[in-house]
Amino acid sequence: MAKIIVTGGQKLKGELRVEGAKNAVLPILAATILNGGVNVIKNCPQLKDVGIMLEILKRLGCRAGMKNGTITVDSSTLNSTEIPAELAMEMRSSIILLGPLLARCGKVTISYPGGCEIGPRPIDLHLKSLKLMGAKVQDVHRGFIYGEAETLNGYDIQLDYPSVGATENIMLAAVFAEGETYIRNAAKEPEIVDLQNYLRKMGADVQGAGTSVIRVGGKKKKLCDVEHQVIPDRIVAGTYMVTAGITGGQLHLKDIVPEHLGAVIYNLRDAGCRINIEKNALTITGPARPRALDTLRTLPYPGFPTDMQAQIVAMLSIARGTSVVVETVFENRFQYAEELIKMGANIKLQGRIAVVKGVRGLTGTFVNARDLRGGAALVLAGLAADGETVISGTKHIERGYEKIEERLSQVGANIRRVEDGQ
Ligand code: EPZ
Repeated sequence: MAKIIVTGGQKLKGELRVEGAKNAVLPILAATILNGGVNVIKNCPQLKDVGIMLEILKRLGCRAGMKNGTITVDSSTLNSTEIPAELAMEMRSSIILLGPLLARCGKVTISYPGGCEIGPRPIDLHLKSLKLMGAKVQDVHRGFIYGEAETLNGYDIQLDYPSVGATENIMLAAVFAEGETYIRNAAKEPEIVDLQNYLRKMGADVQGAGTSVIRVGGKKKKLCDVEHQVIPDRIVAGTYMVTAGITGGQLHLKDIVPEHLGAVIYNLRDAGCRINIEKNALTITGPARPRALDTLRTLPYPGFPTDMQAQIVAMLSIARGTSVVVETVFENRFQYAEELIKMGANIKLQGRIAVVKGVRGLTGTFVNARDLRGGAALVLAGLAADGETVISGTKHIERGYEKIEERLSQVGANIRRVEDGQ
């Protein structure tokens, strides 16, 4: 298993370009099923999860490929509605294929995606909504979900929680439905808006993304080919920002959308970072030592993103003062804390609350990444630690960050990836 080795102590300095958003590409790839035509999607990151989704589309009969960040999917040749279990199990977000396959083909078989490192990740909101639209979904039976729908009917859906995946699944299911669908208490993430923009380019009748009420007009039968450029990844951008905050360095980030980073910018400024915002870029200068944050809660967008929680806790672990961080979105998203404690951090966990007492400095040691953003947090801690940090479990990090060791080396980090046996 490969490892990432970081030797701390450098203040990162330089410019980084931020790649396209993983969490925008994945639902857009699911949407390519709908038009039975050609889809050209630009600014896609080269990541394992994107590769898995492309492989699933190919196994469904689509022609799909990726070259230099551009994905092409021709879904006119789709000839199956069975998602290969071994691929679905590898990536939770495969559940997003339920909606478009029911909408276009009227049936779908998918293995139950199950939980993952950060929580049980139930799909009750997805299944309940699709059933309300008329789908017959035989819940988990021998580990598989079987769905079928002669036609899907528009419905006025109230989500119990602004679930990103459920919002996306319903949008995709509703495009061909008989009648209007409303999604109330919809997730408002920028990735939802990007999906709406994609669907509108296809000719679908969708409005309201970015607000808590989305309307899908339905009935559209033939949709057209699409060419689209994916939005930048706000979580990768936020992660790079924290590398400046934790090392006291200065980074210029380009090809970003500052409006997508409001809560991250606000809290990093509160922790002592100087941030100068330009049109599609920003410059962040980290303080000599970060300040603690009284209380930080993760919330659905536009609140502070749960996907940035581990990264900011890594920075707060060396802050002046004590911070309280509340993880309100997922049940088990502090696993990385144990690894930071091995490096000398002082973190007390109580359920969904972490009390982070800043220490003067961390010390490099052997640590293990157990999920994507927790792994990123260990890289950040290694950048600031005294000595060498050896991070195993790099497969998690590679799911969300394109060549992170190359990118951070470009701005002065002493970081390298070591294959097993090297
Ligand atoms: C998306 O996951 C993202 N993944 C996650 O990013 C992100 O953390 C999450 O949204 C929240 O922003 C992708 O977009 C591929 P949810 P998703 O449905 O859709 C509960 C990363 O690091 N819930 O908004 O699975 C759920 O248990 C990943 O890039 C139900 O109870 O998130 C959780 O507590 C990690 N029932 C909360 O809602 C359901 O049917 C938020 O989940 C669905 C969700």
